[in-house]
Amino acid sequence: MLDQKMQDALNSQVNWELYSGYLYLSMASKFADLGMSGGQSWMTVQYQEELAHARIMFSYVLTRGGRVILDAIEKPESEWPGGLEMFQEALAHEEGVTARIHDMASLALELKDHATYNFLQWFIAEQVEEEATASDMVQKFTMAGEHPAGLYQLDKELAARVFASPSVYVW
Ligand SMILES: [Fe+2]
Ligand SMILES: [Fe+2]
Repeated sequence: MLDQKMQDALNSQVNWELYSGYLYLSMASKFADLGMSGGQSWMTVQYQEELAHARIMFSYVLTRGGRVILDAIEKPESEWPGGLEMFQEALAHEEGVTARIHDMASLALELKDHATYNFLQWFIAEQVEEEATASDMVQKFTMAGEHPAGLYQLDKELAARVFASPSVYVW
């Protein structure tokens, strides 16, 4: 059985992953507003990925005999000046997610809950990727600046991303 503190942390993370999805969907809408369909598509893929993260977490709690209680999802920001500011916020957001997941792993160790500690390793690795990707995009948008040709190229690059369902066993 899951310790109540561990279950509460996992429940809170389900909400956080859903909020992440909501935030990226909001960014997809803003990219559409800016006429950048590649950015719109990239953020829609990221939204799908966050929903998958929430589901993986959800399934794990149920598998351990726990209960998931869904909470209200916070209203995300909807206005950013451009892609640079969106990816800056995405990076800051993912750094916050990483800190939460690390805290959960520390709690799991403290509780000698090795199953949850092991489960969280996938998320720890995923966060390395999430931060690296957001940081790479911040750099690229910084380089493109206000240059239409650069932004056009970057939008084409963003369009190439496709959703791949995380190869994690969902119970
Ligand atoms: Fe996530
Ligand atoms: Fe990812």
